[in-house]
Amino acid sequence: MQLGILYGISVGTGDPDLITVKGLRILQTVDIVTFPQGIGDKLGVAEKIIRQWLKPQQTTIALDFPYVREQDILESAWQKSAKIIGQYLQQGKNVAFACEGDVSFYSTFTYLANTLKQLHPEAIIETVPGVCSPTAAASDLQIPLTVRNQRLTILPAMYTVEELETALDSAEVVVLLKVSSVYQQVWQILQKRGLLNSSWVVEKASYSDRKIYRNLQLHPNLKLPYFSLLLIQVC
Ligand SMILES: C[S@@+](CC[C@H](N)C(=O)[O-])C[C@H]1O[C@@H](n2cnc3c(N)ncnc32)[C@H](O)[C@@H]1O
Repeated sequence: MQLGILYGISVGTGDPDLITVKGLRILQTVDIVTFPQGIGDKLGVAEKIIRQWLKPQQTTIALDFPYVREQDILESAWQKSAKIIGQYLQQGKNVAFACEGDVSFYSTFTYLANTLKQLHPEAIIETVPGVCSPTAAASDLQIPLTVRNQRLTILPAMYTVEELETALDSAEVVVLLKVSSVYQQVWQILQKRGLLNSSWVVEKASYSDRKIYRNLQLHPNLKLPYFSLLLIQVC
């Protein structure tokens, strides 16, 4: 039997309407829809975004990707999920993996797809691009992310003070992901450089209950959720 196809579908950053027409078409025609499991008994983020688009006859599977840094725990989670998906592909069923934001932008899907390829080198994997958090945040702020020949630097996580200083020295626009745990240190650097008035925090970009913090001079101690980013216009 011919193997089914695994689709990595970008479902956008929160607003369910941000999924692409192509992503939606594939999402609604596959047999099996998978997504990362939520924390505790909460629904996962991607699941919440897509649930209004699913058909009653579709099978949904929440896959467990623990929020840890230990490589062996992560690898065993990717293996387990890839095996589950592999079983359906071997039955000739098509499987979608719904990914928050864009599937090629710091996504678990990359690891899952690589693991599946190791288990089933013959598997066909396709991705559908979508809206990622920096572009969704720029839209919420009603500003262009970049113009003319501006250089954009994105720091994904765990950046050091030196990394941030280097980014601010070399790019005109800097986006900091996973900023919640380092916000106060970042604030100090922005203050030192006089950049607090050209920096914005966007919490839950594209959600109906998103929050935007514009004058960061007033907000040295924000307690931010995981789904927050900071956008800096350096000049
Ligand atoms: C592992 S990355 C995933 C990025 C995602 N694939 C994307 O396309 O944006 C997680 C980080 O992306 C940022 N992020 C994702 N969605 C967001 C949203 N709706 N609002 C603000 N930041 C978001 C946050 O900084 C979060 O800590």
